Amino acid sequence: MVLSVNRIYNADCLEFMEHAPDSLFDVIVTSPPYNIGKNYGPYIDSRRKEEYLEWLGSVAKRSKRILKGNGSFFLNMGAKPSDPMVPFEAAARFAETYSLQNVIHWIKHISIPNQHSEPGGGARGYTSHGHFKPVNSEFYLSQAHEYVFHFTGEGRTRIDKMAIGVPYQDKSNVKRWSRKSDLRDRGNVWFVPYQTSVGKYLNPKLHPAEFPPELPALCIKLHGVRPDMLVYDPFMGIGSTALACSELGVQYVGTEVNPQYIQIAMKRLEEHGVFPGKDGIRDGEHDSGSNE
Ligand SMILES: C[S@@+](CC[C@H](N)C(=O)[O-])C[C@H]1O[C@@H](n2cnc3c(N)ncnc32)[C@H](O)[C@@H]1O
Repeated sequence: MVLSVNRIYNADCLEFMEHAPDSLFDVIVTSPPYNIGKNYGPYIDSRRKEEYLEWLGSVAKRSKRILKGNGSFFLNMGAKPSDPMVPFEAAARFAETYSLQNVIHWIKHISIPNQHSEPGGGARGYTSHGHFKPVNSEFYLSQAHEYVFHFTGEGRTRIDKMAIGVPYQDKSNVKRWSRKSDLRDRGNVWFVPYQTSVGKYLNPKLHPAEFPPELPALCIKLHGVRPDMLVYDPFMGIGSTALACSELGVQYVGTEVNPQYIQIAMKRLEEHGVFPGKDGIRDGEHDSGSNE
């Protein structure tokens, strides 16, 4: 199979993965449908739960062969408020194939107390950050966060923590911990708000559930960026992972069943100064070495 890189294939990811060569990808980063009844066009996002989890388990199994031994699979999962177990059940299916190395909490919206206000001491004195989506319910809170499960082969894949490090608040720590630079581990709670600059693509009529490109970018950087690396997003949607890869200067491959989303992805890439060819090929071909 000769595989074009920097291309989003209009294909079912399970079929694509079955034919892709062994150990091709360094990183797989993706957000599958959450089975919460979103309208993705050809894909029906409301299956029986067991069938859905079985399907996700197949995604994990098929991906293992095509991911390098020291590769990383970042699985972004959220849930509807009335069924909060789904991300954990999905992670359990993945754990039949991979080891869970890190659990990252993606915070989309947060309200934090101002410096001198008392935590929990009333509504005043708080500052809110990020995109807040109200939930019309007497039972459930607004869903301000999702998970990113970081799966690897053995749970001991070296990562590049400082690539996503943050500056020390107290600069004396740089010396105290003998650090070469003013950077510390960011930890596993990532505040990544939606950027208003891509706001026109946050229109649910265009795509109901994309993640901001900053999220896959953080994942890829955490794994470690190398110029020869290849990233795969099985559920590419409107191309957020492709955008992240273009920003980072790494090559990607995507699959997406809805051709309209691929068209939007191409437009987004063009707007960011990336000019994919009309079939999505940009930088030539990655010859897998096997016959097509
Ligand atoms: C949660 S969305 C991913 C959004 C993406 N992260 C983005 O930022 O645009 C899931 C996507 O998976 C696609 N999809 C569903 N089943 C698929 C399959 N079997 N193979 C490939 N894509 C599929 C849907 O059409 C949808 O666009």
